[in-house]
Amino acid sequence: MMKIEQTQSLSFDELDELVRPAPEVVEFEEVAKSMVSRRGFLGGGAAVGASAFVMGSTTLAAGKAFAAGEKESRLAFSMVKANTLDTITVPEGYKWEVLTSWGEPMFSNAPAFNGATGGTGASQELSFGDHNDGMAMFSHNGRQILCVNNEYTNLNTLHANRADGVPTTADDVLKSKAAHGVSIVEVSRQNNQWGIVKDSEFNRRITVDTEMDITGPARGHDLLKTKADPKGVVAKGTWNNCGNGQTPWGTYLTCEENFNGYFSSSDESFSLTPEMKRYGISHKDWGYKWSMADSRFDLSKEPQEPNRAGYIVEIDPLDPTSRPKKRTALGRFKHENAELTIASNGHVVVYLGDDERGEFLYRFVSKHKYLAGGNNRNLLEEGTLYVAKFHDNNRGEWLAMTPKTTGMTDAEISIYTRIAASKVGATTMDRPEWVASNPNKVEVFCALTNNKNRGVKPNAGGDATPATGPNPRVENNFGQIVRWVPMNEDHTSSEFKWNLFVLAGNPAVYDDANAGSQNVNQDNMFNSPDGLIFDSKGLLWIQTDGNYSNEKGFQGQGNNQMLVGDPETGEIRRFLVGPKECEITGAAWNTERTTMFISVQHPGEKGNSHWPDGGQSVPRSSVVAIYREDGAVIG
Ligand code: FEO
Ligand code: CA
Ligand code: CA
Ligand code: CA
Repeated sequence: MMKIEQTQSLSFDELDELVRPAPEVVEFEEVAKSMVSRRGFLGGGAAVGASAFVMGSTTLAAGKAFAAGEKESRLAFSMVKANTLDTITVPEGYKWEVLTSWGEPMFSNAPAFNGATGGTGASQELSFGDHNDGMAMFSHNGRQILCVNNEYTNLNTLHANRADGVPTTADDVLKSKAAHGVSIVEVSRQNNQWGIVKDSEFNRRITVDTEMDITGPARGHDLLKTKADPKGVVAKGTWNNCGNGQTPWGTYLTCEENFNGYFSSSDESFSLTPEMKRYGISHKDWGYKWSMADSRFDLSKEPQEPNRAGYIVEIDPLDPTSRPKKRTALGRFKHENAELTIASNGHVVVYLGDDERGEFLYRFVSKHKYLAGGNNRNLLEEGTLYVAKFHDNNRGEWLAMTPKTTGMTDAEISIYTRIAASKVGATTMDRPEWVASNPNKVEVFCALTNNKNRGVKPNAGGDATPATGPNPRVENNFGQIVRWVPMNEDHTSSEFKWNLFVLAGNPAVYDDANAGSQNVNQDNMFNSPDGLIFDSKGLLWIQTDGNYSNEKGFQGQGNNQMLVGDPETGEIRRFLVGPKECEITGAAWNTERTTMFISVQHPGEKGNSHWPDGGQSVPRSSVVAIYREDGAVIG
């Protein structure tokens, strides 16, 4: 197993791969078969390319491909050029400023941020968390409360006071646990500068140590019982909170993603179950060393603890004393975000991606209906989980996961959701990241960020990964965005039509399918779409978390970025470029929609950035406010 020193400069993806390499077995027959069907599907060969597939062969009205100057674009800004600067670049007429950063005090009794040490457990508990990701704004009596996920940490910056960033003491573990979770802050713009309202009654940190209720089918199940919670009904904490969701009844949804990387075993002979392996649990953690000071994270002492993570957690941001609720009905996997919409028949539908190579795309449909003005607080407690199966003819279906279809109990489906999905024959996907539902039309998009194992290796459950359907490229390094339209404009329908909105690629380097679809050109090209958020006009904001080397296949693509896509025309324009070695993720707007907030996560993750403070300062993940100089609405 690798040493900590070697892991410091690796991205989360690279760590995941190191700790839990995908099975080495190559299903040659499967690969060969898929290559044939891919050629057939794409129309006979690489020369035809992916563009015909995306905009041409679809049965959906995908909108005509955008041709410059054809008609007035709805993307009313001049495109930002790709770059590798250590700053943020926005279009002419727009400005940006930092709202807050990792370690910023939320309360007046917190010490000022200390970049030389990375702070202490006590300071971190009172301060904004690290690696901010998904977020949502809540308006209440003229006040604005921003909920922000704090996904993970960079060990070298968090533990700057330790050699090689290796956590050494119990306080280091406390600091690390407090840097994770959710930061809830009231925000306001005072003296022309956005910032946190210190000591607001709404300010709250939710961390790895916050008590929360387990609800839904898995509540009280034997698999969730631990020494500290013999009834299996109260979990402690949430961590690796990636994307998010928001409900019309005023709650925030935070999504537990790579929860596995925090567990380890002090007993090397501890036997990992097949279920643990499917979820990437291993004898070694990813360098966090939480088990050093908290036995919950030692598998040999608490083998059930991992079953209590990997869920959607519902939080009431307006009641700082409320207990968050783990919603097990929405399944357990590496949750990206939770895109909630109300179907025409009143049921709540939540679309959910499982971000792992070859894992699945899910849908939850509530048992009870949403009632405007009614008591909707427990609609996420009960319902049915479905998983997507895509057919090559641009049709697809949602497969219900029930005791009848899986041979598992409702609780088991909630806890071992991946296994249930494999049983019903779901389509293995190229790492489903954010799902976004168009507010002005019944259509849904999902970013499939990339998958170097496509057509090469099965997923961890042994399911084949043929290069077909919405995952058409072998060893997919660039990613794509799939769109589906539920039949009868009904989000609860069991059938849908699909096409690809974009296949990312590099037309400056490739002339095959890696060039991308026809709405990708040398000016707007990018790789690894991740964050997807619709604005009120029905424009799709696309955020990237990909290869920023600016070399070889990625030459000319620069740092990670944010683009805007028009679902009607297919046009895509780059709006923003982030600083070095960051990803851009998450979005929210102020009440008047004159400011857009985004997360700049892990700038300088490999040690090559001083953003945002400059000089020789440590890089800090930050929430950035973007607005127009003329004060007009931005999305
Ligand atoms: Fe935390 Fe899949 O991104
Ligand atoms: Ca992230
Ligand atoms: Ca993400
Ligand atoms: Ca990502």
